[in-house]
Amino acid sequence: MIEELLAHRLIAVLGKGGVGRTTVSAAIGAAAAARALRTLIIEADMRAPIAQAYGRAGTFASVELSDNLYEMTLGGQESLEEYLSFVVPRPILRMVFASSFYQYFVHAAPAVRELTMMGKVFHELERRAAPLKPWNVVVFDAPASGQALSMVRMPFAARETFGESVAGREAGNIAALLRDPAKCAIAAVTTAEPLAIAETLEIHRTLAALGLKLAAVFFNRMSAAAFDAADIARMVRRAARDPDADGVAELAALARAELQRRTRERRALAMLRRSVECPVIELVECRGLAGRALTAELAAQFGGRAPARTGSGERSVRSADGP
Ligand SMILES: Nc1ncnc2c1ncn2[C@@H]1O[C@H](COP(=O)(O)OP(=O)(O)OP(=O)(O)O)[C@@H](O)[C@H]1O
Ligand SMILES: [Mg+2]
Repeated sequence: MIEELLAHRLIAVLGKGGVGRTTVSAAIGAAAAARALRTLIIEADMRAPIAQAYGRAGTFASVELSDNLYEMTLGGQESLEEYLSFVVPRPILRMVFASSFYQYFVHAAPAVRELTMMGKVFHELERRAAPLKPWNVVVFDAPASGQALSMVRMPFAARETFGESVAGREAGNIAALLRDPAKCAIAAVTTAEPLAIAETLEIHRTLAALGLKLAAVFFNRMSAAAFDAADIARMVRRAARDPDADGVAELAALARAELQRRTRERRALAMLRRSVECPVIELVECRGLAGRALTAELAAQFGGRAPARTGSGERSVRSADGP
């Protein structure tokens, strides 16, 4: 499945806040770079956690993270100013940027920022002029669901509103890219949490209304299968035989709670599989891992060809039921 996803030039990663969009985006980026694809990760998060995990500061200009892997942080205002520089003559532009109306407009109209952020993503894919080398793959770590969905909607709305003007045509180009299933894959990340599942279904519905489809859902943070119901039954029998045995009954209760959590996850997973037509990729919770070690582990869970080697000084612990 990951090979299919990496066949797209743009992979946009959506999902509810905190479900692991950034972690999954970083893992997709690492998996692409490991396949010798020149990969750019665009972070919509000004904290730039992916750049930071590689010891770099995220900026509007792309920075190299490792072999074939680059990062760019999109704040919004810079992409608007870059975009305006294509359509407004330079001397006028300086006056525009200095004006209080412009400052008001930028802060009061998030839709404008969203549209120009999408414009920047489009630009990186389709309009990078020589001597800059083109990207094979752009992974977009989108903002959390609500804002990401309005970002996806914007080019379609702007195309209608602005018609055949420069802005209307630009918006039309972005909308066409999003609608091209050979070029663009929209992936969602979820956990088994009901709210995360609900937002994934909302993403699915909103995309469908725009004529777009989810290419994949990453079902993140699944509990690792360290034991099963037979193990618990054995523990309970042991506790019944030997009531003085240290903590066996408590352990059995804890294990039962874990098993119930896994049953809930399986139910949520089955429900999701029935509701979305795309593949659902399971990713295991990797306790104790963070940053690049977590990214490398998840890239390994994607399977396929060997993922990129992690840098020196990192742990490379594998989870209990990784492949
Ligand atoms: N499979 C996993 N195993 C263990 N920890 C994970 C896993 N996936 C994500 N995490 C952890 O969960 C936390 C949230 O992940 P992440 O920052 O990727 O989420 P996000 O959706 O990008 O959040 P935000 O909405 O704040 O941008 C991080 O601490 C990350 O290390
Ligand atoms: Mg994030």
